[in-house]
Amino acid sequence: MQGFLFGTEEQATPVPVDTESSSESLALLYNAAKECRKCRLAETRLNFVFGEGNPSADLVVIGEAPGADEDASGRPFVGRSGQLLDKILLAAGFLREDVFICNILKCRPPGNRNPLPGEIECCRPLLYRQLQIVKPKIILVLGKVAANTLFENSLSLGSMRGEVKKWKEYDCFITYHPAALLRNPNWKHGCWDDIQIMMRHYAQISGQGNAHKMPLNDD
Ligand code: URA
Repeated sequence: MQGFLFGTEEQATPVPVDTESSSESLALLYNAAKECRKCRLAETRLNFVFGEGNPSADLVVIGEAPGADEDASGRPFVGRSGQLLDKILLAAGFLREDVFICNILKCRPPGNRNPLPGEIECCRPLLYRQLQIVKPKIILVLGKVAANTLFENSLSLGSMRGEVKKWKEYDCFITYHPAALLRNPNWKHGCWDDIQIMMRHYAQISGQGNAHKMPLNDD
């Protein structure tokens, strides 16, 4: 494969939604959590970044923590990393609005430093509840921090990528964080390998899937 090939918007198939109860549950959870002051990030955040997307999504994407753009807007993955994530999702046959996107931490660590263990533990129950409500078929975990947090290990990203990994009842796929791909474009090849593994798995378990939607255009 030459470069990281991404699909076009026409390639993505909107997923039908029947979301009333999970939508209500997520709204209740958001209202209960949005004023959270469990850790000191509440003192420096501009906005609480709960996550957004389809409340009954087949795919949940989990990143690390809001950056400056996300802190300013209250929405996950809206900066440069978010634009690359949107392209990755399209290449996999998903529109951004079909999936649910969230982070391990809901508030920005100052200067985009790594989340502290105490901050992660404050936020962990909220992430678990989001997953219980959305009940995705697959989870895409972006980067080492998110993967180590979800799986409660300290393994390298390289040792966790490239295969389905079970976490509770969920089938998870771990790949590079888009910010890492922006810094190291050579890693896009590996990311695309991971995404294709995820697409094939999704096609198998859903009996429909997006595996035929191979990307056409170099980017
Ligand atoms: N990086 C993340 O991990 N999450 C975001 O929402 C934005 C950048």
